[in-house]
This record gives sequence, C-alpha cells and structure tokens, in this order.
Amino acid sequence: MPVPAHLHKFGGCVASRHAERLMKQESLCLHAGYAPKNGEPRVLPIAQSTTFRYTSTEEVARLFDLAQSGFFYTRLGNPTVDAVEQKIAALEGGVGALCTSSGQAASLISVLNVAKSGDHFVSSASIYGGTFNLFAVTLKRLGIEVTFIDQHASDEELDQAIRPNTKLVFGETLTNPSMDILDIERFAAFAHRHGIPLVVDNTFATPVLCRPFDFGADIVVHSTTKYLDGHAVQMGGVVVDSGNFDWQASGKFPELCEPDASYHGLVYTQAFGKAAFIAKARAQLMRDLGCCQTPQGAFYLNLGLETLPLRMAKHSQNAALVAEFLAAHPAVKSVKYPTLASYPDRKLTAKYLPKGCCGVISLELKGGREAGARFIDSLKLISLEVHVADIRTCVLHPASSTHRQLTDEQLAECGIAPGTIRLSVGLEHGDDILEDLRQALDPLSK
Ligand SMILES: Cc1ncc(COP(=O)(O)O)c(C=O)c1O
Repeated sequence: MPVPAHLHKFGGCVASRHAERLMKQESLCLHAGYAPKNGEPRVLPIAQSTTFRYTSTEEVARLFDLAQSGFFYTRLGNPTVDAVEQKIAALEGGVGALCTSSGQAASLISVLNVAKSGDHFVSSASIYGGTFNLFAVTLKRLGIEVTFIDQHASDEELDQAIRPNTKLVFGETLTNPSMDILDIERFAAFAHRHGIPLVVDNTFATPVLCRPFDFGADIVVHSTTKYLDGHAVQMGGVVVDSGNFDWQASGKFPELCEPDASYHGLVYTQAFGKAAFIAKARAQLMRDLGCCQTPQGAFYLNLGLETLPLRMAKHSQNAALVAEFLAAHPAVKSVKYPTLASYPDRKLTAKYLPKGCCGVISLELKGGREAGARFIDSLKLISLEVHVADIRTCVLHPASSTHRQLTDEQLAECGIAPGTIRLSVGLEHGDDILEDLRQALDPLSK
C-alpha cells in the first residue's frame, strides 16, 4: 500500500525519491535528505528549536491526528533530524528511519516495536555486551524473553529456538568484538519461514560495506556513535525499515495491524503502508520513551556521514594491513579479521563484505590476560578507550570493560576469551600504527 503523501515525513518514504534512488552511496552521503532551494543554506542547518509555531488550533489538531505533514515537537520530529533520517534510510535502501539518542535505544525500540510482555525473540549470542545485557536482563524484567543461539548452528537447531510467541530474530552483520559475519541471507530465510522479521545491527559494516536489506533483512539498527559519526563526538542510534516485511500475513503483529488505542485508533499498516514500522516506532515508542536525537546531534552525525565512504575504505585498508602484521607476530596467539587466510568464514567475507571489513580486529596474545594488559599499557599512539570505530586507532579489553557484566560462560557464548583484545584501526598512516604495535609487542615475545 503506498504511503499517503502527507504522511511521508512521519513514517518516512525515501525510496520514492527518484533522483536519490539513482545516486551512488558517495553522492547520497552528501546530498540525500537535504536539497536547499534558491538562497537557502548550502549546509544542513541546525533547527535548534524544541517546538514549531502554528496559527490555528485546527491545524495543530490535524498534525496530532497525523492527517497533515509537519513538525510539531522535536521529540517526534525536527527538520535537521528528519534530513539525517532520510539520508540514512537512503543509504540503507530503506523506506524510513528513526534517529535515537543512542544505539542502545535503537536496539530497544527495534524489539519493543514488535514484542510485548509475554513475547519471546531469538538473538545471536555473538553481539555487543550492552545489547546482550539489555536483552538478557532488562527486557526479561519487562516480561520479554530471549533465547540466545550460536549463529553457526544448523537450520534445524535454529528452528528449535522458535516458539509460537517468538516475534523477531536479531544479529549483528559483523559481531562486536568477535568479528564473525552473520549469514544474513540464511538468517532472513530462518526468520521468514516462521513469519517473523530479521533485525540486523549493521554498526560495524555500515551501509557502505554491506546493506543487510539487499540480503533479506527487514529492519536495520545502528549505533551511530560508531562509524556513521566516526569522529567520537556524538552519541546516537538509528532504526531503519526496509518496508519489505508483510506485518499482516502471519497474524502475529496485531500492534501494527489493529487499531492503536493510544493513538486515536490508528491502524499503522493502513495509514502508512510500507512505512508502518517506523511510523509506529515514532508515534508510539518515541512519544512515550523520549529517547530522541537532538538537532545539534543530528548535525554532527550528518557531518560524519558526508565522508563515510572515504573513511570506511581507509579503515578497511589499514585494518587488513595491521591484521596481516599481527598474524605474523610471535607474541600473538590468534587474530580474527575477515580478510585473513585463517578466517573461518571466507565465503561470507566474499559474499557480504567484498568492499572491505571495517577497522575492527579481534586478537589474543600468547601470554593471555596479563600479556594483554602489558601490551595495552605500553601503546603510545594507540589509545585505551571505551570506544570503537573512531578515526583514531584505539584498543580495549572487552572482558574487563564493555562485556564486564557477562559471566565467563556468557563471554564464551559471545566468542570472547578472557584475553581477547579489540583493536579498532583508525585513519593514521599504516606505518605509524604498525610501529606502535611493534614497540609494544616485541618485548612480549622475548
Ligand atoms: C554493535 C553495537 N551495537 C550497539 C551499541 C550500543 O550503542 P551506543 O553505545 O551508541 O548506545 C554498540 C556500542 O558499542 C555496538 O558496538
């Protein structure tokens, strides 16, 4: 069902923009979402206003009824944030997007938009520690249960995780920090044979290296705090809808297909057609949870997006070089990076990441946790940071930081050893990164 023209802003509908559909990623990064008219600012302006003025109560009532397009309160929509949402939707090849205050909020919304208390979902166990905790602990407290599965399990084993109340399947394109590649096509087929959507966290790959919708995923989420921003200046997240999932077919999603009592009895699939998922996420969950991106935050995110293709190519090139160096170093026990000959799933690398595999490398030193600490403490150029996917090379020990809440058993489920080190290769000259690694690693092999 086509989206009525006046509702495009609310649910989003970038795919209908003919010119943008024809543009390549590099051009979309610069031009999608904002096209200034004669005499208007060339650069996306910051609409630093929480609210918008109207001259008639009738018009404001129409806005609240979603019978007219327009901004009325920045929690629900803002011109700067809207432009960035359209840009990201265009990059992912989706019909609409919703920016959030962080990646955590995006993951939360992607689940809460289809699952309620009493429901269940399936997630790969190899995911970011914060998401693991959100799913295993906080959502459980809200009555939504998760089953974690090994993403290398057989189709039969995957099917066994499904229950009558299972509402979605979740995974990461490139897992943080174990650097496994999700077989998106296989997982989309798995979700679809049970009438439920596949949600993919595409934070590490970014739409420049992989577009999960091209392989059948239905919803994409990002921590935009990572590569999409890229400069470590702004927290953010985004939920993107492919517009391809049929919410009516299975009868499992009454919240999208039946009247919403909290919104004048609106039926999202009827009012918004292909853009129903984002319209509901915005009208219902963003309204109630309030985890919105700010106009200033969206402006920073937009600056980052403008150079995303250049950065991802260089991150990938530098990381491939560093991974080869590490793999040959005597102090290193193992290195996981999808371009290495030793990588277990090279077919997946070729299929999903032919343009590069981002800047993140997972490694373990021969001396385990203790050698890892000595290595990290003696780095000079490369900094120890609770961050990843920055333009500056940084390093972290997940077991004592991002994945600290997990037990050793849960760590193993996520593909993390106690001594695993996550190296995030930045945009410095490759020689300088290698030199710093060399001076920190050489003493360990003596
Ligand atoms: C893959 C992935 N998803 C989600 C998140 C959460 O994002 P944020 O820190 O922006 O809340 C992170 C954070 O590191 C991440 O790496």
